[in-house]
Amino acid sequence: MRFHVLTLFPRMFDSPLSGGVIERARASGLLGIQIHDIRDHSQDRRRTVDDYPFGGGPGMLMKPAPLFEAVEAVMAAIPGGAAPVVLLSPQGKRLTQRVAEEMAQQDHLVLVCGRYEGVDERVRQHLATDEISIGDYVLSGGELAAMVVIEAVARLVPGVVGSCESALSDSFTTGLLEHPQYTRPAEFRGWQVPEILLSGNHGQIARWRRRESLRRTYERRPDLLESAPLTGEDREFIESLRRL
Ligand SMILES: C[S@@+](CC[C@H](N)C(=O)[O-])C[C@H]1O[C@@H](n2cnc3c(N)ncnc32)[C@H](O)[C@@H]1O
Repeated sequence: MRFHVLTLFPRMFDSPLSGGVIERARASGLLGIQIHDIRDHSQDRRRTVDDYPFGGGPGMLMKPAPLFEAVEAVMAAIPGGAAPVVLLSPQGKRLTQRVAEEMAQQDHLVLVCGRYEGVDERVRQHLATDEISIGDYVLSGGELAAMVVIEAVARLVPGVVGSCESALSDSFTTGLLEHPQYTRPAEFRGWQVPEILLSGNHGQIARWRRRESLRRTYERRPDLLESAPLTGEDREFIESLRRL
């Protein structure tokens, strides 16, 4: 999968994308992340990319021309010449695991980072195919949001995370929060790992994990239970929690 990021601050991407699974996947060629400086597409010698809003008001807006030209240059280099253009925006669709899963199906994804008071509306209307928000708060720019999208999507690309299974059991992928996890030692400062996990009985361990996953979701994010795929046994267990 290839990410193409358009930003006014290319250097912000240097260190967050050089570590852990992302770095490994880039080195192996599974992932490509190309950072493009929007200023390279400004149309004057001062490399201007912003201007005052028509009608007045505080702050500056990103001009449409450098953004359109930057996206067009990226598209020209993509085989087939087409890919989703995602504008990072607090007004966009909220990033969830489902949205990340959909994005992970793409071969190429163009991520456009806004700055200042945002972008000229024609960028939303005629350039972006999607608008994504990473939450109901306002950042100063789309760069950190783009990095969040890259990290969330990249780990869903087959082969990026060492064991496929670990991504499959992540919180939200199953529709539930993940069950508690423990590693060695079995006793730490007097706190014991649940006995069942040491039993070697895989059937019982799987059942315990499912129940703890349901319990945790019921306690912390009951809203998820409304759309999670649940068996009859799951529902009975949740009912027993409600009766407590
Ligand atoms: C200061 S914000 C502009 C906010 C804009 N005036 C508004 O009220 O919608 C500058 C840029 O940061 C990015 N940004 C801010 N908050 C974000 C969020 N929650 N999710 C994704 N991008 C965000 C967007 O790219 C945005 O264009």
